[in-house]
Amino acid sequence: MSEGIEICVIGSGYVGLVAAVCFAEIGHQVVCVDNNEAKINLLNSGGVPIYEDHLPELLRKHSQRRVRFTTDLGAAVAQSEVIFIAVGTPQGSSGSADLSFVEAVVSEIAAHVKSYKVLVEKSTVPVYTNEWVTRCMLRHGVSPDLFDVVSNPEFLREGTAITDFLYPDRIVVGANNERSARALQRIYEPLVNGDYYASHTAMAGGRTEQMPAKLLVTSAQSAELIKHASNAFLAMKISFINAVGNLAESVGADIEDIAEGMGLDSRIGSKFLHAGLGYGGSCFPKDVAAFSCVAQQQGIDFQLLEEVRKVNSLQKEVFVQKVRSALWTLRGKKLAALGLAFKAGTDDIRESPAIDILQKLIEEGCKVQAYDPVAMEKAAALLPPSPNMRYVSSAFEAADGADALLILTEWPEFAGLDLESLRSMMRFPICIDGRNLYKPSVMREHGFTYMSTGRPTAHPDLVSKASSGKSPWPQTLHVLEIGRRDESTLSNLPTDQAQAQ
Ligand code: UGA
Repeated sequence: MSEGIEICVIGSGYVGLVAAVCFAEIGHQVVCVDNNEAKINLLNSGGVPIYEDHLPELLRKHSQRRVRFTTDLGAAVAQSEVIFIAVGTPQGSSGSADLSFVEAVVSEIAAHVKSYKVLVEKSTVPVYTNEWVTRCMLRHGVSPDLFDVVSNPEFLREGTAITDFLYPDRIVVGANNERSARALQRIYEPLVNGDYYASHTAMAGGRTEQMPAKLLVTSAQSAELIKHASNAFLAMKISFINAVGNLAESVGADIEDIAEGMGLDSRIGSKFLHAGLGYGGSCFPKDVAAFSCVAQQQGIDFQLLEEVRKVNSLQKEVFVQKVRSALWTLRGKKLAALGLAFKAGTDDIRESPAIDILQKLIEEGCKVQAYDPVAMEKAAALLPPSPNMRYVSSAFEAADGADALLILTEWPEFAGLDLESLRSMMRFPICIDGRNLYKPSVMREHGFTYMSTGRPTAHPDLVSKASSGKSPWPQTLHVLEIGRRDESTLSNLPTDQAQAQ
């Protein structure tokens, strides 16, 4: 592999920490800076501040060897050739990205630049941030010969961030001159020339020496737009399939078949066509809003982005409405909630549809028993434990005595539950699945009334089981049996009409 480069990464959140250990993994010397002393102490003592697959092993492998952690930004900047800025860009009050952390860091860097540095925007930032960073450096008296600013957006998904970094679909470098573009090309060289994939210590992943990563060099503005446009496009795909799912449900079609049929068209592709509860997390909601603001500021009519947001926020309401239509009244109903994280593979609950949905159901008087394999601690900060919000230690404990089971995050363990045991623990065998983890026919066979997303409701096959003389259904199911004739119609009606039946 090529000779390592001295790199400084500022920010030790999801993006900064993953980038720091991955740069170390491909042979560079990295110093990772954060002003949060507790976090740096934790990292220096071998702790792992976030839940991310492969992060503990890479930290064990490189910490204190190729990657160091410090709060001393000045020293880190002085010793590094390339400085990655990976601090937060939260959503501001108007929806636009709040760049105050970026500005604060740039001002601090400016005070320590004595030799040529490449500053790299790694955080997700709106177009023209590159310009602002440049202006900020100049205003602080740094000579233009002493720095360049490059945009190098990240395309990492939480949960698979390490492999996304090491085995990327593409690397985008937005540079306005040859010198700074070359610095980034040198950093990513082991991924682009395939040396990393050929090495026997490489992590397993989907690329080979013969099929290495592609690096695209563009202008800084284009790179900034590639990031926002990519996230907005993926969010649009999700909203589109959710809108089609709602339509499919109302005409008795199946969204899984529809997504497969659409996805087989290579121009469409099968990824990001999973209908569910809508997108959440710290990126899509914030980035769609920020991108929309950028368009507005430029006087461009990009109404499509507003529709993407509208469909997404309605999707949670659609789910709550489904719970109402299954349970009639909500006050006092006991609900088992499986999943709190915004998606599987992470403990992140930021903008998690699960949290919004549970908040709404608790407001309406439900009692929730929730389980998530890793996100309960974080969820408890937003939904504190109370008589109406209990955190339990397994899916089965959550199901105990429940009037209905809600599947809110697609953790693989929720897709393989022992359905017989689950049903026997519940007060009523009703499952409302926001992630389509089960086949309706399987749930029906196991005696569940099963409402999922974009598919017809499945009802237990009472007649055939009963006539075989060994009815396995609990007494309570007869209540459902009485109403069964009309249930499929009822579930399609608004609640007030359904209640009037
Ligand atoms: C997203 C992008 O996928 C990354 O490329 C990007 O780098 C990152 O944002 C970022 O800007 O930092 P992430 O937020 O970790 O990554 O999560 P995704 O896996 O993209 O999922 C986002 C949301 O969409 C989740 O709530 C997920 O459940 C939902 N989703 C995803 C669907 O509802 N359906 C799908 O088909 C796919």
